[in-house]
Amino acid sequence: MHHERPVALVTGSTSGIGAAVARRLARDGFSVVVHSRSSAQAGLALAAELDSAVYVQADLADDAARVKLIDDAIAAWGRLDVLVNNAGISRVIPHADLAAATPDIWHELHEVNVVAPFRLIALAEKALRDAAQRGRSGCVVNVSSHAGVRPKGASIPYAASKAALNHMTRLLAVSLAPDIRVNAVAPGLVDTPLTAGWTHAQQLWKERSPMRRAASPDDIAQAVAMLVTSDYLTGEILLSDGGLNLT
Ligand SMILES: NC(=O)c1ccc[n+]([C@@H]2O[C@H](COP(=O)([O-])OP(=O)(O)OC[C@H]3O[C@@H](n4cnc5c(N)ncnc54)[C@H](OP(=O)(O)O)[C@@H]3O)[C@@H](O)[C@H]2O)c1
Repeated sequence: MHHERPVALVTGSTSGIGAAVARRLARDGFSVVVHSRSSAQAGLALAAELDSAVYVQADLADDAARVKLIDDAIAAWGRLDVLVNNAGISRVIPHADLAAATPDIWHELHEVNVVAPFRLIALAEKALRDAAQRGRSGCVVNVSSHAGVRPKGASIPYAASKAALNHMTRLLAVSLAPDIRVNAVAPGLVDTPLTAGWTHAQQLWKERSPMRRAASPDDIAQAVAMLVTSDYLTGEILLSDGGLNLT
């Protein structure tokens, strides 16, 4: 049967930014595929809370699981209009401590933060192009980081993975246009479980950023929703850091 609502897959949507994006897109009229690696309880609870949602579990470090995630997401309602690549991992390593940034850490971050989003886009390409046939281009939003724009961030392997994600965003915006728009949101500090202990960054945002506070997950969800709403923007990296970069 033909499903009227557009469908969005939000990776890593059991926590923090992803959960806020899932809630926001559900409010905006999307059927939502909620996803995470291991927090299945939270995923099932969020899917039950939303109007029209399912939960799928998949470890994005594993390519077979990526394939299954996209298959399951498309099977849920027979279409996929929006892919939000939000799931990501971080490691805190002082930038000057080069020995601590081991090859294993480089590979782990690259696999989840760069290879996984690319693979999900590749696997979803046909479904997203089909969205264009229905009258609105398919849409990808990658959640990167201000650390991928400026020489900052939790660690050099993390920042480099987000810089790679930003460049991939621009490259794919060119390759997939006009059927699929590809943009990124690059948050500064966001209050989520990931950053709960980051007191130095919290102080910095309170004192130095023009907006005088870190972002809430809802602030970032709003930026994602803006890019989803657009019919024209593509290849943009929307820095969402409360203006910290200006100081
Ligand atoms: N918080 C910030 O200040 C900030 C700033 C800039 C950018 N970001 C970016 O924003 C995104 C979300 O961050 P957040 O702070 O909301 O993170 P979070 O609260 O730690 O949530 C991360 C989500 O991603 C999922 N995930 C992690 N690794 C995964 C894997 N290998 N396979 C599948 N799912 C996986 C987690 O699932 P499980 O819980 O099941 O593991 C969880 O649902 C990340 O890409 C992060 O780099 C965050």
